[in-house]
Amino acid sequence: MSVSDKNSMKSIDLFSEEVLADPYPTYRRLRDTGPAVYLERIDAWALARDASVRAALTDWETFSSADGIALTDGVNQALKGMILASDPPEHDRLRAVMNERLAPRVLDDFRANVRRQADTMVRALVGRRSFDAVEELAKAFPVAVLLDLIGLPDDGRDKVLAWADGTFNAFGPDNELFRASLASQQDKMEYLESVVASDRLTPGSIGRGIYEAADRGEIDRASCVNLLAALVDAGLDTTINAMSTIALLFSTYPDQWQRLRADRSRIPAAFNEILRLESPVQWFARGVTTDYEMDGVKLPAGARVLLLFGSANRDERAWSDPDTFDIDRDASRHLAFGRGVHVCAGQGIARLEAHALLAALAEHVARFETGEPQRRLNNTVRGLTRLPTSIEPA
Ligand code: HEM
Repeated sequence: MSVSDKNSMKSIDLFSEEVLADPYPTYRRLRDTGPAVYLERIDAWALARDASVRAALTDWETFSSADGIALTDGVNQALKGMILASDPPEHDRLRAVMNERLAPRVLDDFRANVRRQADTMVRALVGRRSFDAVEELAKAFPVAVLLDLIGLPDDGRDKVLAWADGTFNAFGPDNELFRASLASQQDKMEYLESVVASDRLTPGSIGRGIYEAADRGEIDRASCVNLLAALVDAGLDTTINAMSTIALLFSTYPDQWQRLRADRSRIPAAFNEILRLESPVQWFARGVTTDYEMDGVKLPAGARVLLLFGSANRDERAWSDPDTFDIDRDASRHLAFGRGVHVCAGQGIARLEAHALLAALAEHVARFETGEPQRRLNNTVRGLTRLPTSIEPA
């Protein structure tokens, strides 16, 4: 592939430990280099600016998901038939079933219970004064909510946590994190198939609803386990990582916590700002279907592009003071949930969980103090593995 030096970067390794730990200086270099930058190491183009990512997300015919959204052929092959890895019209059918199951009126049935779970969990942690905000809050809460919602039995709890890291590492290039993730993917599909075969999805749950849609002929039965896996994959590690940064951000910016406690109507805006600043999904890929000129840079048909949500959301061309956490800004146009036909199908659940958790914390916690955070290194998602946290009760 011949690419002008101006828009090519030979040395950048987006997936080195150093960059995964702190990708933001590298993202800035990419944004400053151009609207699309060729990364020689992985033979793919990085779209790092807000305008570039937005343009690709809203043009599925040129930036297709049908050949997968990962970086290796093997994983893209394995994703075939999954909702994330399809284009319309196949995507429309899968998406309709997902939308029906995740509609706001469906979530209303879960709302009171999610709020109660958040309140109970936060009260118990506040009683102890100090805890690990990743293990005991950011992981524990979404797992409890999601298992209920999908209708998976409680014995799956430890399993889903073990898979969570794996899926998103598998989207990356063939590095150590990628290779370590492959076994857990096999285990996941086997477990989900065994739950279905033994008829253990809870009646009334979203998971069972997917199988009922197949019984009515809306989708193939073969697609069901993939939709179930999509919910587990997309619904867990994303929210866990979003929630792992809550205590860190509000201990770093105590004035913002006071602001939120004084005006709880800022909770939805605060969650948008958390997602903008520390986007849990840092990127997904697309395949370019036809030669395309992006703001003067030529992308050839057949190229793979990385849509760097985590960079677009800190683009100084789109946001003022982008590295600052400010719950008073309107961050609702962030790209952390994507855009276009694949825009996050579960954002209603994510918001339900996060708003309930922030409300419970605002009620019971006057101040956070956090120790040294342990950064989690993952090929696709950004979050923490440990965050020693002490709180002052309200
Ligand atoms: C803060 C939490 C979350 C973030 C940051 C997030 C992020 C995203 C992003 C960026 C996409 C777009 C993929 C693309 O364009 O290729 C997506 C799609 C999706 N998300 Fe989420 N997500 C979150 C929570 C959830 C939850 C809780 C669920 C379900 C329980 C969920 C289910 C899905 C599904 C099924 C898709 C595929 C939609 C499609 O391909 O049409 N997500 N998510």
